[in-house]
Amino acid sequence: MNLPPFKLERYFAQYEFNTEFLLCSSDCEAMSIADLLSFEPDAAEKFSHVWLGYTESQGSPALRTEICKLYETIQPEQVLVHTGAGEAIYLFMHAALKENDHVIVHTPNYQSLAEVARGIGCDVNPWTAREENGWTLNLDELRGLLRPATKAIVVNTPHNPTGYLMPQADFDALNRFARDCGLLLFSDEVYRESEYDPASRLPAACDFGDHAVSLGVTSKTYGLAGLRIGWIATHNRAIYERMASLKDYTTICNSAPSEFLAELALRHRDKLAARNLEIIQRNLSIVDAFLSRRADLFSWVRPRAGSMAFPKLLHGDIEEFCDRLVKKAGVLLLPGTMYDDTANHFRLGLGRKNLPEAIARVEEFLS
Ligand SMILES: Cc1ncc(COP(=O)(O)O)c(C=O)c1O
Repeated sequence: MNLPPFKLERYFAQYEFNTEFLLCSSDCEAMSIADLLSFEPDAAEKFSHVWLGYTESQGSPALRTEICKLYETIQPEQVLVHTGAGEAIYLFMHAALKENDHVIVHTPNYQSLAEVARGIGCDVNPWTAREENGWTLNLDELRGLLRPATKAIVVNTPHNPTGYLMPQADFDALNRFARDCGLLLFSDEVYRESEYDPASRLPAACDFGDHAVSLGVTSKTYGLAGLRIGWIATHNRAIYERMASLKDYTTICNSAPSEFLAELALRHRDKLAARNLEIIQRNLSIVDAFLSRRADLFSWVRPRAGSMAFPKLLHGDIEEFCDRLVKKAGVLLLPGTMYDDTANHFRLGLGRKNLPEAIARVEEFLS
């Protein structure tokens, strides 16, 4: 299998740990182990007794029970825990696909959602979200992309990088379409529970039936990327078993301390999500004001969920702009070219506490 460099990760590798302001992070503000342990009075004591042997390959039963609370119809044996969402994407693609299969991927996309399938030898077609339509996806276009060899549809809502949230009627129709056509739907829901209007939250795809696999993680809405705990939830036994069997060749089982902390975090996920949404809401109003002050330079479609937006630079070249900004002002933005976007967009992160200072630095740079 021949995988090209993961552009976004290689870009971050140059700057993430030596730049003052990361203004393009997709995850929300993290916290220390001590802060997380303080959520329950006896948690620190229990954590010190966590046994450092191998753990159950599918994830600890207690953690999987906690994960089930995100879903309506899922039982612990239908949850498979991974090292981050990244591992789950990699294993799903290998479990579900083979050379010459056709896969339809919501685009622009987090690179591995298309690249792993391509690396396996699949024919990958974009299902393109367009800015002029508010980054919406058109179901008629999807129907037109279908081929006899189509095996799976990959969708990501709330969406990285646009913050697009699919309307419920479209999500229902997408699930019906996948099920009726005998296709797998891989639903990347890692930004779920970060909707700005909680009433707009979508049901999880896995609750629609065994055509679907839902992907979750502690990294984004809950701000705990360092735990490296992700999972899939599915009624599809065959896919589950194949992924579980492939996991024996990657990580075998998860980190015991991380499983303990993830279980604790998910017991308090409402509190974690509320804290991060508060940061996002405050940041959104600062970005709103900034972008309207500089409407000569930028435009955007305001996101409806998640911790990022995908504004557009109206003049100049986005790669050159981001390069000058990081080198001269110490602020990292992510050029849309990392997503193969050619229309001068850039990713702006909304989940970090220091966004007000970062935006002030950008304004200073621009003036
Ligand atoms: C849409 C999407 N899926 C999956 C992932 C992978 O998450 P993790 O890095 O926590 O494994 C990311 C990370 O940015 C993402 O944005």
